[in-house]
Formats: sequence, C-alpha cells, structure tokens
Amino acid sequence: MMRIPVLDELKSLGVEGYLVGGVVRDFLLNPSQPLELTDLDITIAGDAVAVALQIVERSDKFQILETYPNFGTAKLLYNGTLVLDFASTRTESYAGCGSLPQVEQLGVPLSQDVLRRDFTINTLALSLSNLDTVIDTCGGQADLSARTIRLLKPGSFLEDPSRILRALRFAARLGFVWAEDTHDQLDAFLTAIPASYRGGGERIKTELYRFLSLPESSHKVHGLQFFEEKSLYRLLDTRLPPGIRWPELSNRLTILKDRLSAYWTDELTSLIYLSLVFFSFSEAQAVAAAKQLGLTRSETEIVLKSREFALPEQADPGLIYEAFMLMPFASACVGVLLAADFKKAVDTLSYFKANLEGITLETTGDDILALGIPPGEKVGQLLKALRHAKLKGEVRHKIEELAWIQKEML
Ligand code: CTP
Repeated sequence: MMRIPVLDELKSLGVEGYLVGGVVRDFLLNPSQPLELTDLDITIAGDAVAVALQIVERSDKFQILETYPNFGTAKLLYNGTLVLDFASTRTESYAGCGSLPQVEQLGVPLSQDVLRRDFTINTLALSLSNLDTVIDTCGGQADLSARTIRLLKPGSFLEDPSRILRALRFAARLGFVWAEDTHDQLDAFLTAIPASYRGGGERIKTELYRFLSLPESSHKVHGLQFFEEKSLYRLLDTRLPPGIRWPELSNRLTILKDRLSAYWTDELTSLIYLSLVFFSFSEAQAVAAAKQLGLTRSETEIVLKSREFALPEQADPGLIYEAFMLMPFASACVGVLLAADFKKAVDTLSYFKANLEGITLETTGDDILALGIPPGEKVGQLLKALRHAKLKGEVRHKIEELAWIQKEML
C-alpha cells in the first residue's frame, strides 16, 4: 500500500485524516490498481483550514495554495507537485430543490459527514493512519459487493436532482444496477417535481456531460434508454426554439433514429443530447462551457455548429448538399430535430444520406486550368456549378463533367 504524504504531520498534530467517497469506492472495486496520487482529497475530522496552516508551519515541503474558511477547505501543495485538497467534515442543508448545499456545521464526526453524500457506495472511508480497514457506517460495502447504486436517504434526488444523472453515470461506468428503493425515489421525484424547479444549473450540465462522455458500452446504452424512458430531459434547462417542447423532441428523436437507423450510433444520441443542452447558452457562454467541461475539438464543433444549422429553403440537390455536407452529422440531426417542418426536414436528411452524400466530382481544379481557364475565383465557381449539375444527375462521369465545363465556357 502506498504511503500518503502528510501522514506524519497529521500524526504529530494528533489529527485524523480520511479518504472518503469515489477514491475509496474505486480502490475497493479494483484493489490491484494503486490509489491515484494526483489531486488527493483528504477529509479532516476537525478544522481542515487550521490543520493545513499548522502543517505548513511545521514542514517546508508544504505550501498553502488557497483557503476557504467558510467552507472549511484548504488547498496544499506538496513538494511543488502534488495538490492536496483538505476538507473539514461537515453537515449540509439545501434551501430548495436543486439549490447549492449550505454548510451547516464544520468539524463533525466522520459518521455524520458521510450522511450528506449521495449513494451508499460513496460513503466508504479509509483512515490515513490505517489504510487496511474500511470505515463503513452506511452499508456501502454490501452494496459494492452486490453492485448496487442505492440512495443514502429519501429526498436526496429532491435536494439535488443532479444525483439522478450521477446514478446513471455510476451504473453505466461500473456496470451496477439501481436498488429498487432508488427507482422508487426517482419515480416519486418525477411525479412531484416542485413547481419551483426550473431545471438545469451547472451541476446538471456537468453531470450529464460526465455521463454522456463515458465510453460507449451496453451499460451506457441502457442508461440512455432509461434517460429517454423516464423523460429525464425534464431535468435540463434548454432554451429550445419557440414552439418546440421536450416531449415532442423526444418523439422526434425516436422517429429520426428509426429513419436513419443505417447511420445511427449510440455516440450520436449522446452528442445530440449534449448539443441540445448547449441551447441554454449564449454563443459566448457555449464556448466557455465547452472549455470548462473539457469537450474535445470535434465535440465543441458539433455543439457550436448545431446552433447555426439551417435547412435549405428549396428542395434543390445542390443547396441540400451544401447545407449538410459542411455540417457534422450530429449537428445536422439537431437541426432536423428542431426544424419547424420536422417531417420535411427528416425527408431531406434521409435523401441527402442516401442519394447525395457519396457523390463526388472526378474533375479537379487542375483539369479546369488545363482547359485554359486562368487561376482565380472562376475555377471554384465552375467546380461548384459542376457539382450542382452532377447532384441533379445532369452529368455522370468525368467525360461528361469536362464536356459540361466546356459548354459553360462557350
Ligand atoms: N457527492 C454527493 N452529491 C453530489 C456530488 C458529490 O454526495 N451531487 C459526494 C459523493 O460522496 C462523492 C464525492 O462527493 O463520492 C465526490 O464527488 P465527485 O468527485 O463528483 O464524485 P466521485 O464519486 O469521486 O466520482 P468520480 O470517481 O467519477 O470522480
């Protein structure tokens, strides 16, 4: 077992430090994998800020980075490289559904601290001074063995609905199932979502993104199906175009999947949900949120382009090709889902995929130059016009393409 820095300092101060939550859960699930030694979260049964300051006074290996006395937290740097996040044990309360928790009392016993947490499997703790003994006051080990996600207390989804998405994520990531009473808690929450709940909020977006960005797996597909079955889009705050509501959008998604089943992937469903969530942001907020969530370049392109997609006004093959060809497929799907005339939009996208997408020109810019056209804008214009002609079926192969250009040049 690895040795945790700060252990000696805590011992000499007579203070107990713990690892709690995700790190312990993951370690117990996979004990052969060493505990990760980056950004270590240490829970102090007492005043973590005071303890952090004392440690820095005693040892020059530690440096204080930040302290937040109101929240009882402090950030320490060890040896110039390892960040240690110290948090005081605490109790919390929620002012309303989905509001941020308020700290009630700092420095409570560990057994009280764990009661503010979400699922039993996230309440497990290890004392830094005895990493061989698991501290389990809420039945976390039994649920870990039974591979079960169980809400710690009733009303927890109501306090923090982002926990619903966390439960989806943990089930998908770990291959666990929800306990029956956790299902009941969800149904109770969904039938009585308080009128004051407006949906959304940073935690919902972050947790949805964390779920959607899990690698594709049958567990994740199951989670996505569950998301749709339970209409969990109700948790989101998305400023959709006027006249379009989530339930309608969900029906449209089912139709779109069916019509485009030959091209559909589960990743596509994730990307579409992600893009729809981004509709709650302004352009600048969307760019900032993409960065904050750590979206990849292609995900960022998809969520941003989804916002600017416009269907061509006329059913012209050239215009259809241009509208769709420059769009990532997921963005085009979002554009179709939100179209005023959804049926027509689906037909257009299906037509593009089946008949237009694969059409390419055999003629190149060099071929056009070889016909005596000087380099310049005209070459691009001719290629574009030629593509339109080919999309309409007016030319079929290179000989006809070149003949078409020659006729245009007359
Ligand atoms: N937690 C909670 N309710 C939330 C978010 C977090 O009770 N809405 C608690 C859980 O006990 C969790 C801990 O805070 O274990 C740390 O949260 P986070 O880092 O988000 O989750 P992890 O469980 O560490 O998950 P992961 O390993 O995926 O980071």
